[in-house]
Amino acid sequence: MSGLRIAVLVSGSGSNLQSIIDAVANHTLTSQIVSVISNKEGAFGLERARQSNIPAYFINPKEAGYDEKLLARLQADDVELVVLAGYLKIVQANLIQAYKGKIINIHPSLLPKFGGKGYYGIKVHEAVIAMGEKESGATVHFVDEGVDTGETLLQRSVPVYETDTPDDLQQRVLHEVEHKILVEAIKKLEEESA
Ligand code: GRF
Repeated sequence: MSGLRIAVLVSGSGSNLQSIIDAVANHTLTSQIVSVISNKEGAFGLERARQSNIPAYFINPKEAGYDEKLLARLQADDVELVVLAGYLKIVQANLIQAYKGKIINIHPSLLPKFGGKGYYGIKVHEAVIAMGEKESGATVHFVDEGVDTGETLLQRSVPVYETDTPDDLQQRVLHEVEHKILVEAIKKLEEESA
C-alpha cells in the first residue's frame, strides 16, 4: 500500500483531523491515519478518531515522561508523518529530532504574521482584526525548534471584511482554507515520498 503512516495530534475539536479522515475515506489521500493522540482527555478529536475506528490515545501531560511516551507511541506505530492539527502544546526537541522534516503543523494565519507564542485559536483572529488587516489565511509548515517558524509548505489567503467578528474570520479561515490546504499538503508529501 502506498501513502504514509500518519499520526495526528489534536487538543480540541479536531475538524482538521476530520478533513484528513474524510480525504482518506474518499481516496483523495492514499495515506492511512494509524493513530490520533491528544494531550487533552476530553478532546472531541479523540471521539472523531474512535468513530472512524482509528486508535485514539490520551497521554496525560501532567504525568512524568510525556514526551518520551509520545515518541514511543509514534515509533511503536511506525509513523512516517506527524500532523499537528490544533495541537496546543509545544513539541519538544526529542520529537523534532526523531522526526526531522516529518512533522507538519497548520496555523490559522499568513505566517510569519500572527505566529509565535500567544498566537493560537481565536487570539490569532482577534489580533488580525485589531490590526485592520485586509486579508488573512492559513499556513501549513514544517515544525522546527521554534514556535510557528518552520519552512512553509502551503499557504492560502481569504479576505477579511470590515464587518467580521473574530469568530466570522475563524470560521472562514477554517472552512475555506485550513481543511483544504492541510489535505493538499499531505498529498504533496505523499507524492514526494512515492
Ligand atoms: C485551527 O484553527 C488550527 O489552525 C489551530 O487550531 C484550530 C484547531 O481546529 N492550530 P480543529 O481542532 O482542527 O477544529
